[in-house]
Amino acid sequence: MSLLKKHAYIERNAFLLLILSFLVVTVGGIVQIVPLFYLDNVIEDVDGMRPYSPLELAGRNIYVREGCYVCHSQMIRPMRDENERYGHYSLAAESKYDHPFQWGSKRTGPDLARVGGRYSDAWHVAHMHNPRDVVPESVMPGYPFLAERPISSTYIAQMMKTHRAAGVPYTDEMIEQARADFQAQADPDNGDVDALLARYPKAQARYFDGNTAQVTELDAVIAYLQMLGTLVDFSTFEPEASR
Ligand code: HEC
Repeated sequence: MSLLKKHAYIERNAFLLLILSFLVVTVGGIVQIVPLFYLDNVIEDVDGMRPYSPLELAGRNIYVREGCYVCHSQMIRPMRDENERYGHYSLAAESKYDHPFQWGSKRTGPDLARVGGRYSDAWHVAHMHNPRDVVPESVMPGYPFLAERPISSTYIAQMMKTHRAAGVPYTDEMIEQARADFQAQADPDNGDVDALLARYPKAQARYFDGNTAQVTELDAVIAYLQMLGTLVDFSTFEPEASR
């Protein structure tokens, strides 16, 4: 039997075709997936990663609620054009405290994985109010209501407990002090910023939306955006494989 004829036999025998296809896909899958469990830079811990502070976590919740991930990714791929535009490619460890992860699947707007520190708070305030005021050709919708809506820390400790159940290492102390840390980060004149920083290194504490009278949803969103990509110090980072 020629090779072609053997194949014709397989093609006419639905059950045999099914079994052989399954074998091929299994082998292909194993070859692709199994090495990932052993590659060091896929499973390594990275210095600087910490759980989100209560205010950042609240901002992240608003990011999810508003569907920002529909237009924005948080996943910089290891390709030269991306690295020049957005910075170092994303590491697996950088999304290890994200439940659910925010990699996104489509970029209508730019990747946000390292947007922290790229713009001033005032830029974000103007941009979130009406993106076209700062980027005339923008197609991003405005979110002017965020600046009007006060945000409360009433449920933030429960939120952190939920994340702890999913594996985020929030300590009992972090959960007990959640409301104090939330307040200190958004209203640093009336809170213990040193205690916040001891628990959440590199947390930025200020009046993000410029309004000192109340803490708003905009404060939380900007606190979250300004933190993205700032935790790992890439001037000293070396992948474990090349150490
Ligand atoms: C309909 C798609 C869309 C949605 C939804 C959207 N954006 Fe955007 N976003 C864009 C586009 C397009 C740009 C680029 C133009 C600009 O800067 O406005 C952008 C830009 C940005 C930038 C500036 C990024 C940079 O590097 O210049 C930030 C920050 C941002 N968006 C945050 C958000 C947040 C937070 C939300 C959710 C509250 C959101 N976006 C929702 C489309 C969107």
